[in-house]
Amino acid sequence: MRKLGLLLGLMVIGGAAFAQDVPPYWAYPVPKPSGPPAKPDNVVMKKVPGSKLRFTDAGVSDRFVVPDWFPREHPPMPDVVAHGRKPQVFACGYCHLPNGQGRPENASLAGQPAGYILEQVQEMRAGRRKTSVLMGSIKSMYAIAGAVSDDEVKTAADYFSRLKYRKWIRVVETATVPKTDISSHNMMIRAAGREPIGDRILEIPENLERTELRDPRSGFVAYVPKGSVARGKQLVESGAGAFPCASCHGATLQGDGNVPALAGRSPSMIVRQLYDFKHGTRSGPAADPMKTEVSNMTNAQAMNIAAYLASLKP
Ligand code: HEC
Ligand code: HEC
Repeated sequence: MRKLGLLLGLMVIGGAAFAQDVPPYWAYPVPKPSGPPAKPDNVVMKKVPGSKLRFTDAGVSDRFVVPDWFPREHPPMPDVVAHGRKPQVFACGYCHLPNGQGRPENASLAGQPAGYILEQVQEMRAGRRKTSVLMGSIKSMYAIAGAVSDDEVKTAADYFSRLKYRKWIRVVETATVPKTDISSHNMMIRAAGREPIGDRILEIPENLERTELRDPRSGFVAYVPKGSVARGKQLVESGAGAFPCASCHGATLQGDGNVPALAGRSPSMIVRQLYDFKHGTRSGPAADPMKTEVSNMTNAQAMNIAAYLASLKP
């Protein structure tokens, strides 16, 4: 299917240069359409290492009750983070996790500036922050942005900005990768067999079962092409033809004022944002400083940059 799409793209646009500028499917994973999901089991009590708590599959599927496996590892969650507000405001901690670590199909909020968190939700509500591929996860986020109040977002922003983002993405340079599928949660997951990595970053759960249970201690591995981390370092330090990233994102890329932190963050998320800035789907005055940065950035450069940023200590 993908090959066919690419071929058609080539034929329609008539040039490899254009075909390379399609949104990378591995950063915007969209599963093939399937029937309604099976009803999650509500009998078998599941566990994750290190927690005495037990939840069923149904228990971890309720978007208004965050499964909180390690309640002592974070301050008490405000109501909007733990429960949200019915019918449209799903609990922030459901997708972004109680510790704010986030997942590849959304974003980590831990340690991001409170002002930035509020601003981004407002940008989504105003339709200035859009996406180049409307993944299901992003569609849900936009619905939330439309329904949530600024006061609720401020409360959530205050909570997440005080959490410390910790390293939980293991970057591995490699020539070959496991074959992958796309889960119903817009996530790349391991399949049987291996294949060459090509120009891709494959960010997949270290342990799918624990990730499906929303275990906030079970992180991700990002397979990246050989040499990409060094190439990314050079681009980040030189500014990829514009200003060095550190001049706005802080000397260690851990954020500065209201400019977000990049170090150690999800490479899928970074690639999506760079692509969205470049193609004007993420736009408006707030995004202006990024426009110059990405105007000449190729998909390959964005990928190298994301590999390097993910490898950094947060
Ligand atoms: C259904 C899952 C889901 C829930 C629940 C959710 N989000 Fe999100 N959020 C997302 C996704 C997906 C993105 C990433 C969008 C993208 O890649 O552009 C996101 C991105 C964000 C961003 C941008 C972060 C960045 O670094 O660019 C902020 C801020 C945010 N969410 C705040 C919230 C708040 C506050 C709540 C609760 C009121 C919330 N989210 C609830 C899925 C969710
Ligand atoms: C002139 C200042 C400036 C420079 C230089 C700069 N950025 Fe940014 N960047 C920003 C601002 C401001 C934002 C927030 C944009 C918004 O509010 O929409 C941002 C946002 C981002 C985001 C989105 C993060 C998120 O959590 O959503 C990424 C990714 C990013 N920058 C990467 C880079 C990279 C990579 C470089 C270097 C090649 C770079 N930036 C250089 C100012 C800058």
